[in-house]
Amino acid sequence: MSEKRDTFSSRVGFVLAAAGSAVGLGNLWRFPYLAAQKGGAVFLLVYVIFALTFGLALLITEISIGRRTRLSCIGAYKKMNSKFGFLGLLTALVPTIILPYYSVIGGWVTKYGVSYIANQSGDIAKDSESFFTNFITVQANGFTNNALFWFILFMVITTVIVLLGVQKGVEKASKIMMPLLILLSIGIGIYTITIPGVVSGLKYYLVPNFSFIKSFKDVADLFLSALGQLFYSLSLAMAIMLTYGSYMKKDDDIQKSSVQIVVFDSLVAFLAGFMIVPPVVAFNGGDPTKINAGPGLMFVTLPQVFAQMPGGKIVGALFFILVFFAALTSSISLMEAVVSVFLDKFKINRTVATLIVFVISIVLGTLSCLGYGPLGHIKLLGREFLDFFDFITNSVMMPIIAILTCILVGFIAKPKFVEEEVLKSGEFKAKKAYEVMVKYIAPIFLAAILISNLVVS
Ligand code: PHE
Repeated sequence: MSEKRDTFSSRVGFVLAAAGSAVGLGNLWRFPYLAAQKGGAVFLLVYVIFALTFGLALLITEISIGRRTRLSCIGAYKKMNSKFGFLGLLTALVPTIILPYYSVIGGWVTKYGVSYIANQSGDIAKDSESFFTNFITVQANGFTNNALFWFILFMVITTVIVLLGVQKGVEKASKIMMPLLILLSIGIGIYTITIPGVVSGLKYYLVPNFSFIKSFKDVADLFLSALGQLFYSLSLAMAIMLTYGSYMKKDDDIQKSSVQIVVFDSLVAFLAGFMIVPPVVAFNGGDPTKINAGPGLMFVTLPQVFAQMPGGKIVGALFFILVFFAALTSSISLMEAVVSVFLDKFKINRTVATLIVFVISIVLGTLSCLGYGPLGHIKLLGREFLDFFDFITNSVMMPIIAILTCILVGFIAKPKFVEEEVLKSGEFKAKKAYEVMVKYIAPIFLAAILISNLVVS
């Protein structure tokens, strides 16, 4: 493009935008559950070790590819090697598929947030299970109880921010929302651990527990859960970190920024455990099985907990605001990744590109939304639309993309492609270790993630 490429105005802006992408529903509804179920401190330790090795290496790789080529995924891989154009296309499909269904869930979060703020949480708490079911199956009366309406609203908010551009939209929104997100996490975390009866939950979350490890299979399961969670949590193989890297200034330190993104993401995941695990266990008579992963935890169990908690309405409102920020900064990153592909590929302006992506997302998202309701009879690979889109991207396409990226960097373009870019703006301390990771260890880990996803599906 003849036009100058957009950039983030500062390193802080870049780090907060990337962390905004990384911190999402995965941190809030999956991490606490995994940590609690899989050995408490044992899981946390395994997670942190993988985060600072495997996770960091893949993150540095993506950011460097983006910054060096100054292109979105579709051109970047091709520029590295002309035979790898297909990888760019495959990668571009991932955020295109995820954005719509992620925004459907973003719509659910918005609805719950508004209900708590408007002091209408009583409706939810009365029978949180049927409220949620009626809501997502688009059976409830009135448009404010219609999941489709909230999905479109969430999508419009995301679109407006992306329309404003990299600095005035993405960066500014992240700079406002991310510090607030951290403050809310710490505040709610402190509050919930002061509630009487939380000790058993805290123990369950934090005390190392080896009792669930009975065989080699359990060890493998622990490692794979940590790796899989990490991979998703850092928004890898979604074209996002590559795109954000392409907006990074040439003299901003890549290694330092990547470490900060990993630490930020892990910290919020860790804090989420303090917000969620102790109160859920405490208000369920010490029953830890109530901590499940996924929508049930957030939309069914937690509203019941908030209803019993002193000051629960306020905590509930603050909690859903936090989740809203987490979801919004992630959806912004997804949309920006797709818009960036359109900008590079078709040389159109941002407004047109963004509106095209908006329309595609509304169509696909409507399928996901109605797939739980009127279109429920349509199944793809035995799944409703939303679950199908989630499976095909997260479980299949993303590990494949990451393996191919490692092969491309490790053996074809060679690790120096990444190393030179990192060294341009700072040091690269673990260069040798990086090479071993990207060539051998990461592809093996990723293949293990892929195989286990396919086996358990
Ligand atoms: N990394 C996000 C999380 O942990 C997930 C995500 C981000 C999903 C961006 C899609 C897009 O929840």
